[in-house]
Amino acid sequence: MSVMAAPKEKTEEKKRVAILISGRGSNMSALIRAAKQPGFPAEIAGIISNKASAAGLEIAQNENLPTAIHQLKNFAGKDACDAAITKTLLEWQVDIVCLAGFMRILSARFTRHWQGKLINIHPSLLPKFKGLDTHQRALEAGESKHGCSVHFVVPELDAGPVIARSVIDVLPDDTPDTLAARILVEEHKTYPKALEQLALGHVRLEAGKAIWSQNPAPASAP
Ligand code: GRF
Repeated sequence: MSVMAAPKEKTEEKKRVAILISGRGSNMSALIRAAKQPGFPAEIAGIISNKASAAGLEIAQNENLPTAIHQLKNFAGKDACDAAITKTLLEWQVDIVCLAGFMRILSARFTRHWQGKLINIHPSLLPKFKGLDTHQRALEAGESKHGCSVHFVVPELDAGPVIARSVIDVLPDDTPDTLAARILVEEHKTYPKALEQLALGHVRLEAGKAIWSQNPAPASAP
């Protein structure tokens, strides 16, 4: 593992957020952009990647954000690797962890440790199309609507309660790529909104459900 740049001082009002990535980091960038807006209730504490080659790491470094790399291959197993991730998150005084294209299933121990504080973005209207190749499978299934979901992470893959989602029409000539591109635009809007709601304490995970303290819940809630 390698950690670059010192963590910033914790400020009282804003929740401190770490983003876990594996690749290009476009959702990470959307969260970084949102956190720069005055009044946004969260600040980015650092970025962790499980791939040294993740393009998002360079973006994060250009933003002067702390970065760390924890690769499974350098540890005895998943629990040891995830314990190292938790150690970095605690050093950064993180309140909320956002998975953004993090392409490894985290250990049950890790998800239990961070439960209620750990969220993910998934490119489908969950509970439909958990896992990979969501756009291809939505087209094959003849879906007329598709979209993305931000959800609390629980040990079972893509099964946690949904906080926010965005729905688009599937067009007759859509391919997995055209669908992915349109949904990515929605992801970049939906993820910051969901993070904002969590950071404000408007939504929480309780007994396996997303509970809203606001009535009514925002329109992006399922
Ligand atoms: C996104 O489509 C996200 O929904 C999925 O993986 C992709 C990551 O893209 N989990 P990026 O790295 O955020 O650009």
